[in-house]
Amino acid sequence: MPSVYLETYGCQMNVADSELMLGKLAAAGYDHTENPEGADVILVNTCAVRDNAEQRVLGRLGELKGHMKRDTVLGVTGCMAQRLGQRLLDAETRVSLVVGPDAYRSLPELIDGARHGERALATDFDLEEHYEDFQARRFEGVKAWIPVQRGCDYRCTYCIVPYTRGSERSRALADVVRETRDVVSQGLTEVVLLGQTVNSWNDGSGHFGDLLRAVGAVDGIRRVRFTSPHPNDFTDPVIGAMAEVPTVCEHVHLPAQSGSTSMLKRMLRRYTREGYIDCVARLRAAIPGVSITTDIIVGFPGETDAEFEDTLSLAREVGFDDAFTFKFSPREGTPATRLPAELTVPEEVVNSRYTELLQVVRGIARGRNMARLGERREVLVEKEAKRGGQLRQARSRDFRSVMVPAESAEIGDYLTVELTGTTGSTYTGTPVAARAPLPVAR
Ligand code: SAH
Ligand code: SF4
Ligand code: F3S
Repeated sequence: MPSVYLETYGCQMNVADSELMLGKLAAAGYDHTENPEGADVILVNTCAVRDNAEQRVLGRLGELKGHMKRDTVLGVTGCMAQRLGQRLLDAETRVSLVVGPDAYRSLPELIDGARHGERALATDFDLEEHYEDFQARRFEGVKAWIPVQRGCDYRCTYCIVPYTRGSERSRALADVVRETRDVVSQGLTEVVLLGQTVNSWNDGSGHFGDLLRAVGAVDGIRRVRFTSPHPNDFTDPVIGAMAEVPTVCEHVHLPAQSGSTSMLKRMLRRYTREGYIDCVARLRAAIPGVSITTDIIVGFPGETDAEFEDTLSLAREVGFDDAFTFKFSPREGTPATRLPAELTVPEEVVNSRYTELLQVVRGIARGRNMARLGERREVLVEKEAKRGGQLRQARSRDFRSVMVPAESAEIGDYLTVELTGTTGSTYTGTPVAARAPLPVAR
């Protein structure tokens, strides 16, 4: 059997797409290999969200060439493939396939052609495509990524995603429920529903709250998560469903991007600082103990000291449990690149703001984590800890990462632990009960 090696960059949507691609290729007779050396096909599933994500891939393509046999097919898939298209084929002569996120159905034929010396570009959008008949090949032992929506209809002015993934479309509720049942039958107990603005999901028959209720009620499911929601799509019925469905976890990753209303307006985020804070308040009122994490961009064009201070004060006011911070990266073709050049924030200013923001958000997270020492949590044991064979990595429902002793925790187990120590970002936990009871209705 010919072998395929695949590397994934970018968000969970890309991870889910990689699982779909490997499933499709397995059905077409390809053997998956974890070693690029000597593979018949090498695929790199790419991200275009920031320039450094693309630079990493370009560097990696150079390295992978060193592992290739004379007849190895090298393909680039995903958002960078969609964004660069023919330019990538022209620049990278060893790459023979450039395939965008809506064209994976044709992957086996495209690879066949490439093995016969053809070079192909497949970047058409297909608004009907959800890969319903593909059997995802999953690699996570305990949880399943389930795309419920593809594309994005927001047009945040910094963002390339609407151009690389096309318009928003939702999968049918029945298809999502069917896939959830499938993953339960494979022994997984957690699902993560994926979409760029996942809570705007609407399949024509209902809203995201209906989807949460349907998925959350599948027999055998113990945890339902979703990412990433948009503040404007947290309607009362959606928050109501989150509060009422016991399997929906107490964690919301709610990208803020900025704490300044004028900046949010330039970003076309479609909410104000007050609107964001109100959304958090509604979530906290409905879901006791919900943890809130976020994404923040610094150095968007025109960012003033006062606007940056507003972002710091938002972080303090909300009290984020964790935050991913990014330096603004101009993406070709996005509206932000058409702002006057004099609005560009000087690099040294961006760097010092970035450092300050990181310190602030880490300090806030550390304080919030320290305050929870001594509390108990139900955790799901996910995998071996990166360092040290004696520990396994587990997650609480409120998305805290907890290291537990390996001898008391098999992967896939639910345990109740006491949070006994923290580095500020992760915990150590001591088991207090062998297996936690099923979650009860709040
Ligand atoms: N759909 C998700 C975000 C997807 S991109 C949402 O709207 O929440 C993930 C994160 O990358 C974004 O939340 C944003 O913080 C960051 N990001 C996107 N475009 C960027 C850019 N041009 N420069 C820097 N960060 C960016
Ligand atoms: Fe990008 Fe905005 Fe869409 Fe998120 S909501 S993917 S940040 S355009
Ligand atoms: Fe990157 Fe595409 Fe995801 S640009 S963040 S892989 S949707």
